[in-house]
Amino acid sequence: MPRPADDVPAIRAARLRALLQHHAQRYYVHDAPEIPDAEYDRLFAELQALEAAHPELLSADSPTQRVIGRVLEGFAPVHHAVPMLSIRTETDTTPAGALAFDERVRRELELPADAAPVEYAAELKFDGLAINLRYEGGVLVQAATRGDGETGEDVTQNIRTVRGRRGAGGQIPLRLAGEAPAVLEVRGEVYMRRDDFEELNARQREKGEKTFVNPRNAAAGAVRQLDPAIAARRPLSFFAYGVGEVQGWAAFNAPAATHSATLDALAAWGVPVCADRGVVRGAAGLAEFHRAMGERRDALPFDIDGVVYKVNALELHKRLGFVTREPRWAVAHKYPAQEQMTRLNAIEIQVGRTGKLTPVAKLEPVFVGGTTVSNATLHNLFELRRKGVRVGDTVIVRRAGDVIPEIVGRVPGVRPRYVPNFRMPRECPVCGSQVLREKGSIAHRCSGGLFCAAQRKQALLHFAGRRALDIEGLGDKLVDQLVDGGLIRTLPELYALDTARLAALERMAEKSAAKLVAGLQASKHTTLARFIYALGIGHVGEATAKDLARHFGGLERIIAARVDELLEVRDVGPVVAQSIRAFFDQAHNVEVVRQLRAAGVAWREDEGAADAARPRPLAGKTLVLTGTLPTLARDDAKTLIEGAGGKVAGSVSKKTDYVVAGEQAGAKLDKARELGVAVLDETGLRALLVRAA
Ligand code: IVH
Repeated sequence: MPRPADDVPAIRAARLRALLQHHAQRYYVHDAPEIPDAEYDRLFAELQALEAAHPELLSADSPTQRVIGRVLEGFAPVHHAVPMLSIRTETDTTPAGALAFDERVRRELELPADAAPVEYAAELKFDGLAINLRYEGGVLVQAATRGDGETGEDVTQNIRTVRGRRGAGGQIPLRLAGEAPAVLEVRGEVYMRRDDFEELNARQREKGEKTFVNPRNAAAGAVRQLDPAIAARRPLSFFAYGVGEVQGWAAFNAPAATHSATLDALAAWGVPVCADRGVVRGAAGLAEFHRAMGERRDALPFDIDGVVYKVNALELHKRLGFVTREPRWAVAHKYPAQEQMTRLNAIEIQVGRTGKLTPVAKLEPVFVGGTTVSNATLHNLFELRRKGVRVGDTVIVRRAGDVIPEIVGRVPGVRPRYVPNFRMPRECPVCGSQVLREKGSIAHRCSGGLFCAAQRKQALLHFAGRRALDIEGLGDKLVDQLVDGGLIRTLPELYALDTARLAALERMAEKSAAKLVAGLQASKHTTLARFIYALGIGHVGEATAKDLARHFGGLERIIAARVDELLEVRDVGPVVAQSIRAFFDQAHNVEVVRQLRAAGVAWREDEGAADAARPRPLAGKTLVLTGTLPTLARDDAKTLIEGAGGKVAGSVSKKTDYVVAGEQAGAKLDKARELGVAVLDETGLRALLVRAA
């Protein structure tokens, strides 16, 4: 926010320094930032530009001149044998960012214009906390944070508890595998996976405790926890991206040594190294890596805020050297930020499929995580109170991966005017039914059930969803019209729709009416698992629906099953079993099932059982899909593979059995070739499946 005299460079520079100092302190020392990283970067870039234009303003204590950070009291200081430096950030998120880096490297190396392209190691930029792991004789003897780059904090006790996620790697080895060098410092990032973060926050929310702002802060806070028992309960993972001090490792000092080979060696010693990396050539190779990873960013199990490029030949690192805080041989090339500041314009209530009332923030539209966001969840009343946000506040909105955007907190500052505290309505804003909160639950719920139009709409959308009955042509807008217009009160009434009744709806073109009728017709041929999932029974997701279908083989048997019988199904616990029993104990739910079948919804009764009996020759095999296959959509390919007992993984590793590559396959294909993993096209995949059938 501009203030008086901000146009005087000296005053503005001083203000920026004070601001940056304050925010760096919040970020590095307290693990509790008040503004999004993107805002910090903007302030930092402004100061850099100001100092470049007015060199007389530069001072040795400017945040642009040093690595910020400080040793927290309570941890012993650790002097780094090799300083832990920072990395230059390229904030231009377009391919131009890659071009600029390559150009600079070529200039610094004084390469002639016709020289061969420079080879780079390209990696992800993990969003966590930098850690130095010191192994002596292959044994982990010390772990330290970066601190100010020269001196960090001894966090060995906490780091010993980093165990990754079951089946997904990421554990810090206490002892290296095989012949390890006399001294090896592994440098990398401790981070929290998105699933671990969501689960941790859900647990915190359930207990009515403070939730964490984002995975990075949760991870950083855990590592710098003074009580190792608390740190141990936070799910952390690790990826290595480099080394510090090295003694007794001949290959590392050989003239042909490369960064990528260094990481390969770390992986061979059992240190987690991310498989999503590659060796590329020239600016075009860098730009392509940035593009391909950008496309995959949402699908990754952890947050990244960019990619990192490093000149691959270690010999060139020495020639390129460092400038103040950053090496010339590396750069971070960013992606659009996943957190931004914006104004909270209003708080509205949304009623979900199960009647749960969710406060939703109506925001001044803001570009975050690659899309424009104008709504974000505030989860529940208690969460909202804890965050202390009010209409009119400047808030931080976060959108990462497929998770719905959420408000992580407010930016401290002046409140524009008096705004009353938010309250949950006593009556459902949609149907007027009483709002209740069960004892011990933090959720407020509308008691209207399917009488409530909002719940009916959500139930219809769930029923019609791609993974349920997959009714083509039935989207939000149409569901609104059908329910608001009184055309549909129960699920089975969907199948009574015909073109004549649909044509009566406002703005309903004949073509879309015909499309929906065809979609409804097609949806009648389904599977038992999809049908069970479509009913929207509480706690019954897609996987449970599949397990139920396979276990019981017929709907009547599920409807009749006692709780103890339901408990025999894989992964079905008491909560799920009770929920299923309670659902079918309601006569009207059984009636809905009967009417749907009367309307023609059908599946082969023994299909589930047949499924169980089918041979599964892809059992134990892990496949990775990349690029666009000629005829199979990714979801369909996945269904086929899983149907044959195989597993579909997100990234290529030595454990991958096959990579199925289509058009525009990216880094995963390179990785497969590098590791010698078998690569198939769609025809090859189909051949495997036929053999499997
Ligand atoms: S290399 C001398 N590689 O980003 C170069 N850093 O702002 C040292 N980071 O402190 C860093 N992923 O914590 C490097 N693949 C990666 C990285 C990475 C995340 C972090 C690291 C560092 C910060 C730089």
